[in-house]
Amino acid sequence: MEVKLEQPVAPVQAWGAGSGTGRSAKLKQRLPTFSYLEKAARSRIPGFAFDFVDGGTGEHLAAERNRRALDAVQIIPRYGASAVLNTEVQLFGRRYASPIGIAPVGVDGLVWPGATQLLAKAAHRARIPYITGTLASGSLEEVAELCPDSVWLQLYGLPRDRHRVTLDLIQRAEACGVHALVATLDAPVRAKRPKDLHNGLIVPFRMTPRTVWQVATSLPWAQALLKNGAPGFANIERYVSGGSSMAATAGFVQSEIKGTFDWETLARMRDAWPRALVVKGVLHPEDAERAISLGIDGILVSNHGGRQSEAAPPSIDMLPSIVRVVGERATVLFDSGIRSGLDVARAIALGAHGTFCGRAFLYGLAALGAEGPDRVAQLLDDELRTALAQHGAYTCAQLRNAAVRDPAAW
Ligand SMILES: Cc1cc2nc3c(=O)[nH]c(=O)nc-3n(C[C@H](O)[C@H](O)[C@H](O)COP(=O)(O)O)c2cc1C
Repeated sequence: MEVKLEQPVAPVQAWGAGSGTGRSAKLKQRLPTFSYLEKAARSRIPGFAFDFVDGGTGEHLAAERNRRALDAVQIIPRYGASAVLNTEVQLFGRRYASPIGIAPVGVDGLVWPGATQLLAKAAHRARIPYITGTLASGSLEEVAELCPDSVWLQLYGLPRDRHRVTLDLIQRAEACGVHALVATLDAPVRAKRPKDLHNGLIVPFRMTPRTVWQVATSLPWAQALLKNGAPGFANIERYVSGGSSMAATAGFVQSEIKGTFDWETLARMRDAWPRALVVKGVLHPEDAERAISLGIDGILVSNHGGRQSEAAPPSIDMLPSIVRVVGERATVLFDSGIRSGLDVARAIALGAHGTFCGRAFLYGLAALGAEGPDRVAQLLDDELRTALAQHGAYTCAQLRNAAVRDPAAW
């Protein structure tokens, strides 16, 4: 009788760590959490590439605050419920296996040559959304072929000629089945990232004896570079007059791309794009309200992972007030600082419908190459399942109703 009482009422599939055999089980043992992945990543790719991913703006304060604020969110567990664990979510009318997507990353090929294609394939296998970037190394058409059901496109502003290039990108996105457009608002100026400056990582990139040494001592990365070639900007090369050389494209990126949109341009985008439109980088509830008044479908609460304004608040602190303002009128998404499935659970408990991770997937690539993004998706999903069960919520919808102590909320 006692033995029966000690058994869980519902079978919980969350006990991933260490179970099973084969490659996946070995990885679970060797890299059981994100911090192990980060350590492996640091030792496996050139220092300038690691610093590029890791670096926040300024003295890294905003990135560190993201972490501290997430750590401070407490979820009060409830017990006694009986149900089958299910992490599926519906975003803009489409079902995804988990509320954990891949955030857009520009120049991703620097972190791991061939990154765009590898991230797209992993998103397809895991049935999660992948927001490919305007400045990704692979083209959106290629990505759409690799993950036809879950590709979203992030846009930066290209204002010249009344947004001719932006509108062309929108048409390309529609033609290849992109599910949602994500307009980034929070990079109106180029942020100062001291580590990149110190490493000479400026556009166009020039090799120095130090960077050559770093590449020569990072063999798997160098092999991936030989196989895939130097990272470019596949989405925009066609718009560059003067050929698609690296120097010409880099000059175009520097002079033409603006990392934000004004409300008028967003209203034009709303008219030009028939599917879901998301704004990324929202931190103020009144900006969320303004976006909704334009008919925008999704608000991605983000401080760019602490890479833009060093004085920006942690995005998790702003999430509850934005969720309150938005209500049921739009989908609220979250990123910045997620390093575990528990962090995903924290964001959902504070009202997010879905979350995105940038660095976590990049560290996966750096640590494990092609199989890295799969490992990260699995790790985060396993941890999310554990968090759901541990807090007595068996679905993400239930978790959104959880009681939370969030001492830092604005
Ligand atoms: C190396 C790197 C490049 C990024 N490039 C872009 C970009 O081109 N466009 C964009 O909207 N966000 C970009 N981001 C921000 C991410 O989309 C995301 O907001 C951020 O990484 C979330 O924080 P996290 O890394 O702590 O998960 C980039 C982030 C990193 C780490």
